[in-house]
Amino acid sequence: MSKKKSRNRTNKMRTTVKTQNVSAKSQAAPKAREAVKPQLSVEEEACYGRRFSHHFDELKWLYMELYDNSSMFAELCDNLHRFYEERNRDLKTQDLEREKNPEWYKTNEMLGMMFYIDNFAGNMKGVESKLDYIEKSNVNYIHLMPFLDTVEGRSDGGYAVADFRKVQEKLGSMEDLEDLTVACHKKGINVCMDFVMNHTSEDHEWAKRARAGEGEYMSRYFFFDNYSIPAMYEKTVPQVFPTTAPGNFTWLPDAGHFVMTSFYPYQWDLNYKNPRVFNEMMYNFLYLANKGIDIIRIDAVPYIWKELGTQCRNLPQVHTIVRMMRMIGEIVCPGILLLGEVVMEPEKVVPYFGTVEKPECHMLYNVTTMATTWHTIATRNVHLLKQQLDIVNRLPKDYVFLNYLRCHDDIGWGLDYESLKAEGIDERAHKKYLNDYFQGYAGESCSRGELYNADPVTGDARFCGTTASMCGIEKAGFEQDMEAMEQAIQKDIMLHAYMFMQSGIPVLYSGDEVAQVNDYSYKEDPNKADDSRYIHRGPMRWDLAEHVDDENTVEGQVYQRLQQLEKIRKSEKAFMTNADTWTIETWDAGVLCIGRYYDGDKILGLFNFTEYDKTAWINETDGEYIELLTGKVLQPIGVNIPAYGFYYLKKIN
Ligand code: GLC
Repeated sequence: MSKKKSRNRTNKMRTTVKTQNVSAKSQAAPKAREAVKPQLSVEEEACYGRRFSHHFDELKWLYMELYDNSSMFAELCDNLHRFYEERNRDLKTQDLEREKNPEWYKTNEMLGMMFYIDNFAGNMKGVESKLDYIEKSNVNYIHLMPFLDTVEGRSDGGYAVADFRKVQEKLGSMEDLEDLTVACHKKGINVCMDFVMNHTSEDHEWAKRARAGEGEYMSRYFFFDNYSIPAMYEKTVPQVFPTTAPGNFTWLPDAGHFVMTSFYPYQWDLNYKNPRVFNEMMYNFLYLANKGIDIIRIDAVPYIWKELGTQCRNLPQVHTIVRMMRMIGEIVCPGILLLGEVVMEPEKVVPYFGTVEKPECHMLYNVTTMATTWHTIATRNVHLLKQQLDIVNRLPKDYVFLNYLRCHDDIGWGLDYESLKAEGIDERAHKKYLNDYFQGYAGESCSRGELYNADPVTGDARFCGTTASMCGIEKAGFEQDMEAMEQAIQKDIMLHAYMFMQSGIPVLYSGDEVAQVNDYSYKEDPNKADDSRYIHRGPMRWDLAEHVDDENTVEGQVYQRLQQLEKIRKSEKAFMTNADTWTIETWDAGVLCIGRYYDGDKILGLFNFTEYDKTAWINETDGEYIELLTGKVLQPIGVNIPAYGFYYLKKIN
């Protein structure tokens, strides 16, 4: 279809289809700031038309394939235009700039930090007042952990959203969010938020109406009046929280129905087979994007499509939805990025990038690499990690991974067990070893932390703890053992140096920059006591942050040494996201070598994952290199490297 024709068609749709049900919330009386409906300029209208017609055919094709419902499609198109109208001029200018430079986020300048607003600074205004600290920490991308309306005690850390258009009262308001994103943009800081699209809270208006028996709302979830179909699902669908929330369905005695709840019983899975759900959730997405969000983290995305007889994970329809979401974003707010949360093995993760012609997510978490990193610490053997990095390094450079050591969730030990099996390592026994090691029970470990969702049936368990505690800082501090502390700090810094060397964008978990250890106080809070993930979700220790300039403190040392690494990363182009990245054999099981090359610059990173002094038997004979932290000049041939040491070696041109 010609572009002109498609544009005409949409204009017609816009005028003929009445907007039905743009969600109860969005029809509420407009708030002061939104009162004036902006008029689009001729340029804006043309810009919208260009974007719309660019995607129209494919969007319609996919929508009709999934829903075969042209009036709902027309309604969607109508609302895309409305959200474009409502998007403010500054954001539109930013969209245009980013459209011109679509690689804007693929630089060595990007450094993320994730935090809970209340833990970090009390509320949104508090975060605004801490932007100088964020800047000082070299961070230019903040992930505000879930902050939308939720019910205390039934919130799953905010991942049970009761209202997608309301900020939790204790954290502030939508206006505060807008103020915060404006303040961040002034400082060049990008803002990321979660879009929890798989489920709503049982306290969401739709859920309440469904529970009250309103058919239209029941059809937005999965309701069953007896257990026969749920029982069939249970045969093939794995459990997310086998101990804390077993099963995938919850019986609602008052409603006389079962409802599908893959996560906690108060998180009701949305039924994306219903186009009303898709449309409304897209409107929520655009509403939030228009508040100035730069990065939308699509939570638990593999789960959003359910099909009886399957695992209800990563089904093809999930990709159709994510692709549509990408196009919808590119039509209304092309400055935003989609970050997919796909906690799966690599072959399941990568398809969420889509293809180069039909992309889906801009960025994905490098989850297997993260888990493999900790496996490497526990085994003092880099073999599997090298293999894992080789897989990632072979992928197209357009694919951007988010690298991290720790986040708000547990570590699920999703490793490549096929490869480990070939080395005689059994999955179940190995998971037990890893959990024992990180609890500090085995393998001469100095780590501290707790199990998560230990499943008595499968023997499976996941692990929780902060980077600092897992590196031994908690134990050394407790025992006042200075030597052990020095080694623990060295391990912590080495891990960050290695993370910065990976291909992609690094994200710090707030508190790690000051070596914050586990917080056991969650056990005293009945709303948290059953969920050991709260061990690494403690409030930001501003008392530690006060010492960041004092190198006689643990926090000062960690902060300053990280600063040094962050500055190197930002100033050396070999750290660009799309640099060539490869691994080099070191002929020592404990030492990893990563190479990076970009536009004439070459850097080698050497990382000793053991408590022993080692020699990396590399043999790079292309000249002299300078070690970027110390300025020492050497030839990278047989390099000695102390316990948990590391080097960034740059080739002298
Ligand atoms: C994601 C979040 C996790 C949450 C789950 C359910 O995996 O990271 O914290 O429990 O989604 O929304």
